[in-house]
Amino acid sequence: MALARRQFDAVIVGAGGAGLRAALQLSEAGLRTAVLSKVFPTRSHTVAAQGGIGASLGNMGEDNWLWHMYDTVKGSDYLGDQDAIEFLCREAPKAVYELEHFGMPFDRNDDGTIYQRPFGGHSQNFGEKQVQRSCATADRTGHAMLHTLYQRNVRANTQFFVEWMALDLIRDSEGQVLGVTALEMETGEVMIFHARATLFATGGAGRIFSASTNAFINTGDGLGMTARAGIPLEDMEFWQFHPTGVAGAGVLITEGVRGEGGYLLNKNGERFMERYAPNMKDLASRDVVSRAMATEIKEGRGAGKEGDYILLKLDHLGPEIIEKRLPGIREIAKKFANVDPVTDPIPVVPTCHYQMGGIPTNYRGEVIAPLDGDPETVIRGFYAAGECACASVHGANRLGTNSLTDLLVFGKAAGNSTLEFLMKNPGHKDLPRDAGEPSLARLDRLENQKSGESVHETGADMRRVMQAHCGVFRFPELLTEGVARIKDVAQRIARTEIKDKSKIFNTARVEALELENLIEVAVAALISAEARQESRGAHDRADFSKRDDANWLKHTLYYRDGHRLDYKPVHLKPLTVEQFPLKARTY
Ligand code: FUM
Repeated sequence: MALARRQFDAVIVGAGGAGLRAALQLSEAGLRTAVLSKVFPTRSHTVAAQGGIGASLGNMGEDNWLWHMYDTVKGSDYLGDQDAIEFLCREAPKAVYELEHFGMPFDRNDDGTIYQRPFGGHSQNFGEKQVQRSCATADRTGHAMLHTLYQRNVRANTQFFVEWMALDLIRDSEGQVLGVTALEMETGEVMIFHARATLFATGGAGRIFSASTNAFINTGDGLGMTARAGIPLEDMEFWQFHPTGVAGAGVLITEGVRGEGGYLLNKNGERFMERYAPNMKDLASRDVVSRAMATEIKEGRGAGKEGDYILLKLDHLGPEIIEKRLPGIREIAKKFANVDPVTDPIPVVPTCHYQMGGIPTNYRGEVIAPLDGDPETVIRGFYAAGECACASVHGANRLGTNSLTDLLVFGKAAGNSTLEFLMKNPGHKDLPRDAGEPSLARLDRLENQKSGESVHETGADMRRVMQAHCGVFRFPELLTEGVARIKDVAQRIARTEIKDKSKIFNTARVEALELENLIEVAVAALISAEARQESRGAHDRADFSKRDDANWLKHTLYYRDGHRLDYKPVHLKPLTVEQFPLKARTY
């Protein structure tokens, strides 16, 4: 069947912070830029980011991008690429001022400068003491950012395709990316977006876990498409568990609560973080706090009837600060935990929040993969930025607020690289003859297969396996069993069908297609986790309790074909400054 085609200079998949920032670079340069999004742009998951953007503006005390760089390298447990981290931290203040000039309504200090709050793992003078680095709009920073960037894109004539789901990458015989196929969610029409360059900003895949702060749209679509196109996924074993998801609901309670002075208590009313991180306490790095909380619960000091959560106390901040700085948190606590934090603590548990790994890129946002002995060959015409990409600045554990910094800095960098490529490569290359066929075949199976598996049940099984086998603490037998179980679920997902064929709704199609993407991520995560025999950042193994730099200071590459693993070196050399030497990580 011949599919309808539209041609653009660039197609961007995803309209969160990274997609919008990249689109702006291209549209403002006069290029025909299409942005595809499953939801209205301002409902992308960036909207849920609460606490702020990390940038060393120094508005609340001395700060320096080099200190930000040190914190990020240390936070990553030394797995982050130091060239990319230098780029991130150097560019961060510029990115924030740019956003300010776009009209972002930041909170202000009395002298008119941008308000900054403390966040976990951010320090002054290479770990000496806490610094206030997070540039915030109350506890709705992502919301304000998305609206600012969306409006700016409307002004620049970016063309939005709202409620369109990208299905598959199109590559030619030389491996160059020439666009995507996509499904219009309202009509079910499948179309080819033929582009001179394609940029993925599809966000994370935190929905592989049962307990997640992620929106339901975070289904790893970009990762699924990339893996199916034969490109490896990097460092997929590293998943961040945010210390404070509302117990039982998963909704995020920003680390900004602890930044503003809130703290965690066990059932005995003990401020236990003093034992685990005597210096930074509740504002230690996220992996450290989440493990401490899980340990308290495991050792019988959790609160509640079942002893299965921790208490986040903030009533001592007083109603005024809570209303001024954390209004959204009060609303969330009332709605999802039935407590008013002005008087009572919020029940919280570590909850899956962020994927550190993703589509391998360099710090320019170009997608890279090993080819002919070069571990970092650039894939022509393909770019990625934001949570779906692995630049890699977050390494084994991301610092709070660096996600928004990443969206802005790498969204813009990927936009600039795309622009450069488009200038040097005018004209569209011909599409391969079978462009679109793999997508149509997938849809055909879902709609016509008889006696297949239920989408809903296999999805629930996938989430159960991930939650039980790949959580905050990882055990060897559970990992091995988890790999077998997730492969089994993957085989079942390859046989899923839409059950009610009397009237197939597009929502059912989308749910089934999303599950095909999620399972690619889940399999990559478990296989990569089982293979890494050390503890580093968010990957904490009971049988290999120490970081092992001699054997494991390297990035994992997972290939879908044959579930193959490969590894590549970490970039220890920054761009212009001295390398931060490897050290034991304490807070
Ligand atoms: O806690 C938060 O507000 C989340 C921020 C982040 O993930 O960077």
